[in-house]
Amino acid sequence: MVQTRKQMNSIAMYSPGKPVEELKRELGLDKVIKMASNENPYGFSPLAEKAMMKEMKNVHYYPEITSPVLTEKLSKHLNTSAHNFIIGNGSDEIIRMITRTYLNPGEEAVMASVTFPRYKTNVLIEGGTPVEVPMRDGTHDAEAISEAVTPNTKIIFMCNPNNPTGTILGKNELLQLIQSIPPDVLVVLDEAYYEYVHTDDYLQSLDYLEDFPNLMILRTFSKVYGLASARVGYGIAHPSIIQELLKGKEPFNVNRLAHAGALAALDDKEFMDLTLEKNESGRLYLESQFTRLGLTYFPTHTNFIMVDLATEAEAIYQHLLVKGIIVRPGHMMGYPTMLRVTIGKPEENEQFITALEQVLHEQVTT
Ligand SMILES: Cc1ncc(COP(=O)(O)O)c(C=O)c1O
Repeated sequence: MVQTRKQMNSIAMYSPGKPVEELKRELGLDKVIKMASNENPYGFSPLAEKAMMKEMKNVHYYPEITSPVLTEKLSKHLNTSAHNFIIGNGSDEIIRMITRTYLNPGEEAVMASVTFPRYKTNVLIEGGTPVEVPMRDGTHDAEAISEAVTPNTKIIFMCNPNNPTGTILGKNELLQLIQSIPPDVLVVLDEAYYEYVHTDDYLQSLDYLEDFPNLMILRTFSKVYGLASARVGYGIAHPSIIQELLKGKEPFNVNRLAHAGALAALDDKEFMDLTLEKNESGRLYLESQFTRLGLTYFPTHTNFIMVDLATEAEAIYQHLLVKGIIVRPGHMMGYPTMLRVTIGKPEENEQFITALEQVLHEQVTT
């Protein structure tokens, strides 16, 4: 047998939210609701669809390798120099580029426990050491993170808002944390859910790029823009970081359809506003229903909510599957009594609550 690199022994394949097709096949169901992967239930911009269809005729040509048109448009959109951007095959790819480029075997990367799992996996692939800092009430513990930094630390990953808890770190706390980090440590702020944040107590990190040349911000077209399958995410950082990441980038990492879709999506404010408005009312609905059911949840700034069922959540997850509703059980994320639920369309939220109430009731009465 061909031996793998020893780092592969410490990782497993990514476990995504259960795909709709899989559940339909397994249980012979016609109708399935997926509230498991924080996708946009309203789809994606019709302008993006039109642009992607139009671009289809060019798929026999490779795309441009550094996504110059999208970079230029993003730079105008965010009022930041085009030299600060790198475009990835989803922000997942940029996380990989970061560890590939910066992490030597044996070096440490600090991150919360629990947070987006791709940080840890990519650190392990490079032979690095993930240093996981427990959360405080589902929120990053800024002080503990700062204390976890050693001379051997190379990267800090901060997911803000955090997946899976949906929480944010307040702006002063985050700024103080960034100030406390030595300049030779890369601070990665993963802002995949940036657009959903609904408080002023949130650090507008882009304003600090010049002050902190060791800061890198990640954002994506997969969530509020609804282009999860197109695979487009981007990183914003000092040009010296961007230049290093570009060296190891796959040449044609972002395909032509994805470029066309992302460019058009940036023009569709109407779709973004609709998504945000509906997400907000869905959040308020779910929160009020959880309260009615006597359940607690982490305060979320995203398109998902982590709710505490105060009982083994895996069993509830399985019962919900049978009813055709896919959510994410918390046991894999270190919260065995919690479910992570993507905020759906009004009718999906209502069906989820009805099913949850039934299942919880059955649990109590059997
Ligand atoms: C916090 C966070 N970062 C990154 C990603 C990856 O997103 P993308 O689709 O851009 O690769 C996700 C996806 O769920 C996420 O939740």
